[in-house]
Amino acid sequence: MPLWPARQLHLECYPPVPEHMSLPWNSADELLLDAADTAQPTLILNDRHGALCCGLQAGGPERQLRVWTDSFCAREAIRLNSSTNGLPLPEMLSLEQLESVSGVRQVLIQIPKNHDLLAFQLSIIARQCPEATVHLAGMARHLPVALLNRLESLADSYSQSRVIRKARMITLQGLSGFLQPDDQLWQGYSQDDMRINALPGVFCRDRLDPGTRVLLNHLPADIRGKVCDLGCGNGVLALSIKHQHPQTGVLACDDSELAVSSVQHNVQTLDLNLEVLHSNALSETDAHFDWILCNPPFHDGHTQQTEIAETMFRDAARHLTTDGQFLIVANRHLPYLPVLRRLYADVRVISADRRFSVYHCRSPKKARS
Ligand SMILES: C[S@@+](CC[C@H](N)C(=O)[O-])C[C@H]1O[C@@H](n2cnc3c(N)ncnc32)[C@H](O)[C@@H]1O
Repeated sequence: MPLWPARQLHLECYPPVPEHMSLPWNSADELLLDAADTAQPTLILNDRHGALCCGLQAGGPERQLRVWTDSFCAREAIRLNSSTNGLPLPEMLSLEQLESVSGVRQVLIQIPKNHDLLAFQLSIIARQCPEATVHLAGMARHLPVALLNRLESLADSYSQSRVIRKARMITLQGLSGFLQPDDQLWQGYSQDDMRINALPGVFCRDRLDPGTRVLLNHLPADIRGKVCDLGCGNGVLALSIKHQHPQTGVLACDDSELAVSSVQHNVQTLDLNLEVLHSNALSETDAHFDWILCNPPFHDGHTQQTEIAETMFRDAARHLTTDGQFLIVANRHLPYLPVLRRLYADVRVISADRRFSVYHCRSPKKARS
């Protein structure tokens, strides 16, 4: 397990990835921890592997520390790394608790890739913690000038560090300019006579993803039984299935709490009945499915990787019924075919255009790791 020399902490990525691909901390974490006032009640946002939580807790456990992260895997990483380093677990907030948080004097933010998500978070801080000092940091190559200009123009007070070890930190006070009207919260599009909405940060919130469109075009007309939308985003696949085949039992799951909350919202407004789960792939269910549908991610934050997709393929193999079928859409260049052939005896490419391939898999092999 890698040692973070600057903080003398042993941290690991969850789920594990090879060390040459990604470490569980970066120099933006170091800038934030160097700037943090360890005596203040603090809120941490977007701590992917617990580097900020552990770094702050290692300085002394007295202050009130609360954390919100969208990702199920990030929460697991924070638990794992806190426990490995013998540190107390910070208070982990749900989205609902974040939206009513109070008493925070300092906020540490790893700047997320999705700037709508950042704007949403700054709006909550502006409303709930107007007195707080907000430190944000990220790797300089991921911080476009337009973002920095926008932060500067909306905050009462703005300061920016120079680039240190390729990272930059920004400090803001007075965030009332970031308050967003309630009618900007939900955005979406219409699909199949359904209005599908999503919160900021959810994949393809305001338009149908072209890969998803291809998968929708390849859904069989006779789909029945129990269906899983694995990595559901706003739930467009799950909702379309339930809308067209009301007799199916549908489960939608995602690593993102914002995605899960968006599907719950859509289920209510569309008056459909389906189950929603916050999980790492299928980690939180024992159910078996007649159909699993998946448009897997190939990024974790800014890092391109295939590990999450491979976890989904393995989990799908474990959760198919004997005659179950697994449909996947993916960008053509991604090397999924050999992985699928290791896991399933029957793998067919049922569509391949310039951009996307659709894979149809059956008969999971017995010895699956
Ligand atoms: C390419 S998007 C597809 C979303 C939706 N199915 C669609 O087609 O519009 C991939 C989804 O996988 C989710 N995801 C990423 N990592 C995950 C994991 N470990 N477990 C479950 N879902 C994950 C992302 O949050 C995202 O919503």
